Amino acid sequence: MRLAKYLASAGVASRRAAEEIVWAGRVSVGGVCVRDPAREVCRADEVNVDGVRVVPEQARVVYAVNKPAGIVCTARDPQRRPTIVSLVPAGVRLYPVGRLDIDTTGLILLTNDGELAHHLTHPRFGVEKTYRAVVSGAPVRERALRALREGVVLQDGRTAPARVTRLAADTLELTIREGRKRQVRRMCERVGHPVRVLERISFGPLELGELRPGAHRRLSATEVLALTNAGRGDRRRPAASPPVRGRSFAASVRRAARRPAEGR
Ligand code: URA
Repeated sequence: MRLAKYLASAGVASRRAAEEIVWAGRVSVGGVCVRDPAREVCRADEVNVDGVRVVPEQARVVYAVNKPAGIVCTARDPQRRPTIVSLVPAGVRLYPVGRLDIDTTGLILLTNDGELAHHLTHPRFGVEKTYRAVVSGAPVRERALRALREGVVLQDGRTAPARVTRLAADTLELTIREGRKRQVRRMCERVGHPVRVLERISFGPLELGELRPGAHRRLSATEVLALTNAGRGDRRRPAASPPVRGRSFAASVRRAARRPAEGR
């Protein structure tokens, strides 16, 4: 297995962050510093990050959580607000897969599998996320729906085509494949309908279902497999896309990866 993948599947970081950690010279294999994330390693190899032995492949866990409003989607919050991770006493270190705004409710996944999180959040794989939005300025007219479906121009570029259904005069269901920061809110605002209430109701093949606000459940092996196969694209191709916008997973690890490594 390649070194970056080994680190990601051990839960050290997402695969991209793991690559940066390797490039930064923080990883050794058999006591020798390695800067090539594609270097092949096996279970028998002694892999260290910052001098600490990496335990290969923890048991993978994935949880679905129904995020209430007022909870932040980071592993740790410097302002000490309640975090999504604190809702799941799993006994292993979990990271949120992507991010929902503090006011957004609904389905969020937590996992210790950096590789899976990478797959679910990287735009190359285009995993669909569906949101239900109650907006102001109702009724939402056909023109606004068409604009949302075709793509609207935001500060960070035009959005990809979205599936949009009007459920009521002021309620939309939107399915997008991107994950830009506050994307749904900005899209709706752009067409003259600021969002009042936003809930994510599905992530790839997984639906929020009957999970109560604040509740969580561990996904079955079948559900995890379905997530692994979600989206499109070739998972083996090396990352060539621009950085993921608005993605929080392992951000702190990436920041740490930019620190100068000792002995460089
Ligand atoms: N789009 C938003 O605007 N906010 C979210 O939390 C998720 C998607």
